[in-house]
Amino acid sequence: MHLLRSLFTAGSLAALLVSAAPAYDGTVTVTKTKEVTRYHTKTVSTIFTKRQACSVTASSLTSAPIGPSGYHSSSTPSIATISTSSPSNTTITSSKLTTSITSLSSSATSYPSATHSTTAAYPYCTSDAAFASVDSVHPRLFNYNGTGAKYFAGTNAWWASHILSDSDLDTVFSEIKNTQLQVVRVWGFGSVNTDPGPGSVFFQLLNSTGSYINYAANGIPRLDAVVSYAEHTGLKIVLNFVNNWSDLGGIASYNAAFGGNATSWYTDSQSQSVYKDYIKLLVNRYQCSPAIFAWELANEPRCHGCSTDVIFNWATEISQYIKSLDAKHMVTLGDEGWFAPADNIGDGSYGYGGAEGVDFAKNLGISTIDYGVFHLYPDSWGYNETWGSTWILEHDQVGAAANKPVVLEEYGYGSPNNHTAVERPWQLTVLDDTSLAMDQFWQFGTTDLSGGLSDYDTNTIWYNSTAEYDILAREHAAEMLEKAV
Ligand SMILES: *[C@@H]1O[C@H](CO)[C@@H](O)[C@H](O)[C@H]1NC(C)=O
Ligand SMILES: *[C@@H]1O[C@H](CO)[C@@H](O)[C@H](O)[C@H]1NC(C)=O
Ligand SMILES: *[C@@H]1O[C@H](CO)[C@@H](O)[C@H](O)[C@H]1NC(C)=O
Ligand SMILES: *[C@@H]1O[C@H](CO)[C@@H](O)[C@H](O)[C@H]1NC(C)=O
Ligand SMILES: *[C@@H]1O[C@H](CO)[C@@H](O)[C@H](O)[C@H]1NC(C)=O
Ligand SMILES: *[C@@H]1O[C@H](CO)[C@@H](O)[C@H](O)[C@H]1NC(C)=O
Ligand SMILES: *[C@@H]1O[C@H](CO)[C@@H](O)[C@H](O)[C@H]1NC(C)=O
Ligand SMILES: *[C@@H]1O[C@H](CO)[C@@H](O)[C@H](O)[C@H]1NC(C)=O
Repeated sequence: MHLLRSLFTAGSLAALLVSAAPAYDGTVTVTKTKEVTRYHTKTVSTIFTKRQACSVTASSLTSAPIGPSGYHSSSTPSIATISTSSPSNTTITSSKLTTSITSLSSSATSYPSATHSTTAAYPYCTSDAAFASVDSVHPRLFNYNGTGAKYFAGTNAWWASHILSDSDLDTVFSEIKNTQLQVVRVWGFGSVNTDPGPGSVFFQLLNSTGSYINYAANGIPRLDAVVSYAEHTGLKIVLNFVNNWSDLGGIASYNAAFGGNATSWYTDSQSQSVYKDYIKLLVNRYQCSPAIFAWELANEPRCHGCSTDVIFNWATEISQYIKSLDAKHMVTLGDEGWFAPADNIGDGSYGYGGAEGVDFAKNLGISTIDYGVFHLYPDSWGYNETWGSTWILEHDQVGAAANKPVVLEEYGYGSPNNHTAVERPWQLTVLDDTSLAMDQFWQFGTTDLSGGLSDYDTNTIWYNSTAEYDILAREHAAEMLEKAV
């Protein structure tokens, strides 16, 4: 924290804090006295028109001080706190805010230099759809949108937040929607240590002087667009906050900036402080949106060789922190579902031995973790394909004992194997032999983007690939929706 604070002089610490009273059901509009190019005006005008009871903090959304090179800091000091429960629009002006932004804007000559545009074709936080929740009558299932418990299927498209085109997002969400998949897991992270230039999407730049949030067109507006398209199509997304792996930055990018290694990261005070600031930014920004299915702590967190207490304690603290910011959305961990010897499951081999410092059963006991997730990649982990159904049944049983929903959040089996032959039996195990609330195949691919193919790997189930897609995506999505509760 001290590093972030030292970045700014007192004069630039101007921000506007607006909170709508929790029960407020009207609209609030924040009006700036002067238009500033790099100021993120879209969120200002949309998030406060949400006709849903919730409290929003303008400073954390759009009015945070602009740091060096046109980045905003993730710290959120305020110069004014304005509360309203008025049923009509409230106009708030702040000369300090305008002055501050004007001067910083004119001094920010380096990248990102492009004028920030309002990218998303649709605003976000305007849908009246209900939030997803754990169903109160059937606590192992989800209530997707207020219409009662249901089983459903979803998918992963990590890259949806890392493509630059809105019309491509339109294509992606339309295709997923017409497949009847309900939930899309998308990377909420993307961090770098040096600016890669405007062609690459990144949300956070980390270096020895702190964390800089990228509000340029190749930054946070891409996440805004994902949320807005999900809302528009009536889909929901799982957004995670960091990657264990170094793809798209990950824990390694924190360590490169602040020191530490893959295991010390979970307890490193500076990394954790920056990570929590990033969580706060996204949670405050999208907490009004019914398109958020759940917040997820990380993608595949591991602490190799550690006591399972390290991840358990970290997951406890971070999930509590998220709930303190946003009590309405669900929270999940994002792990691969490793068991530890204490669980007394399996044969003691890799998936059961606790080598990665993760104990699925223990972590599911955390009260601020709403549902458990696990992944399934037998060919990468040294298991045969039929073991996949065993792994599925074991996680279902632990979910039953904890009386919480459990989701098969990623599953795949690399080409040249026949995806249908290997994965269809797993889907039928989920469907017929468990109470798993949802499964999400890894991963959705489409050939219909403006640049051609979406990012893909050997597990990809292609939208154009009719036979495979018809069974693993369309048929499975339909049969899960039809499954009797
Ligand atoms: C860190 O990145 C910011 C934003 O690009 C830059 O202004 C700052 O000088 C960098 N700090 C170091 C030590 O390179
Ligand atoms: C509040 O302002 C927004 C944006 O200008 C407008 O669409 C909306 O109708 C206004 N609401 C009321 C109650 O005046
Ligand atoms: C969402 O709500 C609509 C009605 O508004 C309903 O038809 C649909 O089945 C619901 N979806 C799920 C997954 O519950
Ligand atoms: C990671 O850092 C911790 C704390 O400094 C240290 O105890 C541990 O040995 C390091 N691990 C590796 C693999 O270097
Ligand atoms: C991810 O976790 C594993 C196990 O702890 C570790 O070996 C690996 O280095 C991690 N990845 C990164 C980028 O730190
Ligand atoms: C697959 O592996 C399991 C143990 O993980 C073993 O019991 C089973 O016999 C194996 N099946 C085949 C077809 O090799
Ligand atoms: C893949 O497996 C499915 C199900 O077993 C089968 O119907 C299909 O013909 C196979 N495809 C190929 C290309 O072998
Ligand atoms: C779908 O597109 C992928 C990527 O271009 C290609 O490998 C595959 O052959 C296509 N499938 C069909 C059925 O056209």
